[in-house]
Amino acid sequence: MFAKVKPNTRNIGQNIIYFNQVASTNQFALELMKQDMAENGTVVIAEFQSNGRGQQGKSWISEPFENLMFSIIIKNVTKQRVDPFLMNKTITLAMFNYLNQYIKGHSVKIKWPNDILVNRKKICGILVENNFNGSVLNYSVVGIGLNVNQNFESVKGINATSLSAFSEYEIDREQIFAKLLEYIEEQIDRLEDGQYQSIAEEFDRALLGHADQTLFDINGEIVPATIIGCDGYGRLVIEHQGMEKPFVHGSIKQYIS
Ligand code: BTN
Repeated sequence: MFAKVKPNTRNIGQNIIYFNQVASTNQFALELMKQDMAENGTVVIAEFQSNGRGQQGKSWISEPFENLMFSIIIKNVTKQRVDPFLMNKTITLAMFNYLNQYIKGHSVKIKWPNDILVNRKKICGILVENNFNGSVLNYSVVGIGLNVNQNFESVKGINATSLSAFSEYEIDREQIFAKLLEYIEEQIDRLEDGQYQSIAEEFDRALLGHADQTLFDINGEIVPATIIGCDGYGRLVIEHQGMEKPFVHGSIKQYIS
């Protein structure tokens, strides 16, 4: 089914590889790259992943045929030196922009480093795997898991939601998929155009807790702090007791409720 989707793009999604089942779309896309068998913009999408990969070595589990799980191969987007976290910001911003216009009247936020929450529940996870030569980005495999029709209301212990919670009808995943690819290409174009600063600023402004106090666990101590932004290495910069400090992923926990 998804193989027939025709997004209104120049590159992203002009070639779509569709699986009923695969270990991981990111892993498959990385294999294609290693064998030099993928064009820029190739998308790998699957209904089920037996070994779906999440952030920090976690797994990504999703009901088959209900959500969207796909990976995009993005090659040679710029020859300039770029920050290691720039592609993460660009893709997360594209997903944020899409969800923000799709779900009106609810709070859509980025939770650092690159989850998207609606009303403080996770709707989208992103796993970017970059290949750098020094500071030059050769290629990225951008993996996206978006909850679409799965109902999380009765699932205990998972703070998640899906697009269906904001619609009365079953959602057409092909339509959403095509539109998402267009939103992603729009942000990739900005990256190619060198708009690094404005991408980073828009990303920071969309962060949950930006310019606003939320609670953090720092080494077991619960403290209120304000997010200043996320630096080029993906570290979260917060203001705490009048001082600005960067934290790497895993060294700080933000409370979201
Ligand atoms: C996270 O929130 O931990 C990131 C989850 C990323 C999941 C997607 S699903 C499609 C792609 N293939 C994978 O194996 N992972 C990503």
